[in-house]
Amino acid sequence: MPQTKTAVVYFSVSGRTQTAAEAVGRYLQLTPVRLKAKDPYPTTGFQQLVARTDAENEQRELPDFDPVDVSQVETLYLGFPTWYHQPPRLIQNFLTTTQLAGKTVVPFVTSASSRVTESLPYLKEWAEAGNFKIQDSFTANTPDEIATGLKDDFPL
Ligand SMILES: Cc1cc2nc3c(=O)[nH]c(=O)nc-3n(C[C@H](O)[C@H](O)[C@H](O)COP(=O)(O)O)c2cc1C
Repeated sequence: MPQTKTAVVYFSVSGRTQTAAEAVGRYLQLTPVRLKAKDPYPTTGFQQLVARTDAENEQRELPDFDPVDVSQVETLYLGFPTWYHQPPRLIQNFLTTTQLAGKTVVPFVTSASSRVTESLPYLKEWAEAGNFKIQDSFTANTPDEIATGLKDDFPL
């Protein structure tokens, strides 16, 4: 079942969302594409990462990312960590500056404990503004959650 018009894009700093994206990619037989910040996030320690994200929040910064071509994609699986009970500001920038009109975005999130439902109100607001759909979102902290999240979409 090659999903030619489907893509898996993810943002990950400490690797958990990458692991989830690789699992999603295995199910969909697709190689996940990493969304990279132009100014890389610190991977050396939690405190450094918190300081960076705090500064972004204070300055209402929308961090830049290396472009990813999703122009031919109809269904975009988008993975990201939960930061402060919402999507990272880089994801906000991606979803509000990429031309996604008419497409469907399937968000999957990792977290310490937050569920994807915490991010959904933000995602829906950006989807409404960009005229794209948010559908079939799932929390992706464990292989079971990923399998369940995907099985809702696909008869595996
Ligand atoms: C700045 C920051 C804020 C976070 N906020 C939350 C949160 O609100 N809820 C939660 O459950 N986990 C939170 N976490 C934990 C991350 O969501 C979790 O570690 C995530 O899986 C990391 O993904 P990554 O390894 O792909 O970067 C936060 C982590 C960081 C660094």
